[in-house]
Amino acid sequence: MTLLYRRLLSVVLCAAGLVGMTLTAERMRLNDDWAFALGHASDPAQDFQHATGYFSYLAKTGFGDGPASTAFDDRTWRRVNLPHDWAIEVPFDPRGSHSHGYKAMGPGFPETSVGWYRKQVFIPESDLGKKIYVEFDGIYRDADVFINGFFVGNEPSGYLGQQHDLTDYLNYGGNNVIVVRVDASMEEGWFYEGAGIYRHAWLTKKHPLHFVKDGVWVNPQLSANSWTVHLQSEVKNHLRESAAFTVHYRILNAAGEVVHSHESAQHPLDAGEMVVDHSDLHLAFDPDLWSIKSPTLYRIEADIMLGDELTDRFSTDFGFRTLEWDPDRGFFLNGKSVKIVGSNNHQDHAGVGAAIPDSLQEWRLRQLMAMGHNAYRTSHNPPTTELLQACDRLGILVINETRLMGINPYHFRQLERLVRRDRNHPSVILWGLGNEEWAIEGNIKGARITQTMQDFCHRLDPTRYATVAISGGWGGISQVVQVAGVNYIGQADPDQQHKDYPWQIILGTEETTTQQTRGIYVRDDERCHLPPLEDGSSRGNCEIGWKYYAERDWGAGVLFWTGFDYRGEPTPFGYPAIASQFGILDTCGFPKDSFYYLKSWWTDEPVLHLFPHWNWPGREGESIEVRLHSNCANAELFLNERSLGSQDMPVNGHLAWQVLYESGDLKVIGTWADGSKRTESVSTTGSAARIELIADRTQLAPDRNEVAMVTVRVLDEAGRVVPTAEDLIHLEASGVGEILGVGNGNPSSLEADVYVERVWGEPIGEWTAPNPADPDTAILWETQFDAPNVEDNTSVTLLFNALGENQRIVLNGEELEAGTLQLALEAGSLKPTGNLLRIEATPFPVWRDREGLFQLHPASFRFEQAPEAWKRKVFNGLAQVILGATPEQGTLTLKASADGLISDTLTVEIR
Ligand code: GAL
Repeated sequence: MTLLYRRLLSVVLCAAGLVGMTLTAERMRLNDDWAFALGHASDPAQDFQHATGYFSYLAKTGFGDGPASTAFDDRTWRRVNLPHDWAIEVPFDPRGSHSHGYKAMGPGFPETSVGWYRKQVFIPESDLGKKIYVEFDGIYRDADVFINGFFVGNEPSGYLGQQHDLTDYLNYGGNNVIVVRVDASMEEGWFYEGAGIYRHAWLTKKHPLHFVKDGVWVNPQLSANSWTVHLQSEVKNHLRESAAFTVHYRILNAAGEVVHSHESAQHPLDAGEMVVDHSDLHLAFDPDLWSIKSPTLYRIEADIMLGDELTDRFSTDFGFRTLEWDPDRGFFLNGKSVKIVGSNNHQDHAGVGAAIPDSLQEWRLRQLMAMGHNAYRTSHNPPTTELLQACDRLGILVINETRLMGINPYHFRQLERLVRRDRNHPSVILWGLGNEEWAIEGNIKGARITQTMQDFCHRLDPTRYATVAISGGWGGISQVVQVAGVNYIGQADPDQQHKDYPWQIILGTEETTTQQTRGIYVRDDERCHLPPLEDGSSRGNCEIGWKYYAERDWGAGVLFWTGFDYRGEPTPFGYPAIASQFGILDTCGFPKDSFYYLKSWWTDEPVLHLFPHWNWPGREGESIEVRLHSNCANAELFLNERSLGSQDMPVNGHLAWQVLYESGDLKVIGTWADGSKRTESVSTTGSAARIELIADRTQLAPDRNEVAMVTVRVLDEAGRVVPTAEDLIHLEASGVGEILGVGNGNPSSLEADVYVERVWGEPIGEWTAPNPADPDTAILWETQFDAPNVEDNTSVTLLFNALGENQRIVLNGEELEAGTLQLALEAGSLKPTGNLLRIEATPFPVWRDREGLFQLHPASFRFEQAPEAWKRKVFNGLAQVILGATPEQGTLTLKASADGLISDTLTVEIR
């Protein structure tokens, strides 16, 4: 338990008058310091001989071999921290999957598609008697989990967590090895999905009488003007005797004060059984409601009391709000009409891929909110919990989607786990049952499957509706689904649907954005760059889509495809395009022009955005269309102080002028309905002169979830961003903290997102098994070897294995200190050839350990090649560096330099 958590807990216990009780439950992050290496999807030899033993781990319990065995030596593996996405580290390859962004992994790349993770965990003897679980929030994908060589389970889904009971397999008072084999060979989606343990991992220790995971449902309902919080709490008794317990509930307000408490009836519970406590908390006060503008959260705490003993505590934030849907008037939150406006998003970001630190989740949502988003669809999979927590805090409505339609345990299990995990989030307003299921959407099977799934979902959670996003196939799913999701008005006739199914709610689950490469105004097929498209790949653009829904009261709202660009689906291009261009923001979150269109009509803030840029040498005298996105009433455009005329802004529209190009200053003066005026100019810039670094914040907590988002801008002498600059920026971080990744939003950039060290091993000499009959025989092993030939940036360590309790190692005549298991070698410390290594060890380990030993070598080299220095080109003047905090406190200094430009330095305090 962290100190902070202990402190919070004791505060709460005091507040609740429960001083003196000790809570045995602990939940700690298991994110740091995992050993990682790539295995192989089809060749066992390259997969560390895993599952090749005479008895496999499925034949005999505890027989996990290769890396799953405790005896495996992972010292030649890299160290990584979670969240981790190894797909980001893999190069691009034209043979890679188009939909996943041409990474050299997945189908056809067995050598980069399996990843292994190993972590040592010490479990004190005092934990004996507790229930101990490991939890992974999300691993992409098909992950086998082992503890101390025991196989504990597998989760095929890349989007749902897994929890495993480790209790009986642990070494109490000793070391334990958690091992995960991840197979990302197969794709679940048609978009970049990452690879590896890309969400948090946890170790949970509990009293044997505890809440079932995701087993507490906090369901606040309003009836006759007063609120009741209905609670359903599943408690399982893992004791070997029956237990009679009560559950004590407390509701805390945002200030942490207890505003309501309740004690359940006593439940007698037999050993091994589960019971559900149903408690209704009738509130005698009017709670502050959770809404988009004011997302007030309360906190519930539920304690299991076994006599005087507090055995488990569940706590979660929740909110009071009502949801209503009206087929003619759309969506109502707390009785007020709200047009749902937002976007769909996948879960990757430039630089880090799918391994998004918690504070980056929130940063991304804030970029969307800046253009007026109130909604987010988690297309097309269950999201990370921290994303939903951020939506709860920020007041964003979520359409939360399961991965695959179907009515079998595979599908129901995923849907059920999604609902149970996420039902307490006030932000979640709809369950998404599916997306564009072409095999069924327009036929009777689709209608049946939807009905069955919808009924199932309704039994799990009768407080929310379900939706399915439908593309071309109207007439199957669309006949029964509660909320018909329209994927693109260009492929549907929602007016007709509304007439034919007057009971049904209609929501634009996907709509075409103004597809564009950020900062590009002329199509360039070779570089795969797009100017703003009037008619995007699913027909239309932001303006057409928004006007359609804005004009129809029955349209509950619209979610554009997508908020952010994402890796994969680089439509309409193929390699070397590796990222989509549907986003209103690019992969870094830099806004494209349509951001300002939506911001104009989705927010009350004054917007005045003139484009394109005005650097067009060689096009003098040519007519160029200049556009304005704004919510002003009237605007007048000037070129070099000459008026080009004024125009009135149509509601939900934009303005355009044809301008004969000459370099200089374009200026627009906007006048709002209240008479206020604002000015915006776009000028022809000089050439690139200097770099500027701007961080979204310069103070981070010493926690790996904390990031600072740094914008790198290339400016001319007058301090204006050069809109065509492509300079290569060299980056250097020093002090504490680290660079997590870099990006620039160019959908066809094949530059690296990360620079990581390369670690590998090489056994030394020949190894013959000594006679196992006599365990006391000393092993004598001797070899001659040459110094390895490595580059200057590569460090070499000699690794030894503990072959016996008493071990003597002599290298070139010099005896190493007793107990030495690794020896860092200075350059030149070995002879070029003929080094002599002698190992004597006794006694020989017992049979079980020895089996693992045979997979090892008495000695090997570990090589670590330092990563290349960080660098990234700016794209149209901009790039992004994600700085991450580490647990150490201090100052992080980032320096950016480029040939011919004045460099810049930025510091971030980590405290
Ligand atoms: C939709 C689909 C999305 C994405 C998009 C690209 O049909 O639902 O996942 O593929 O097309 O245009």
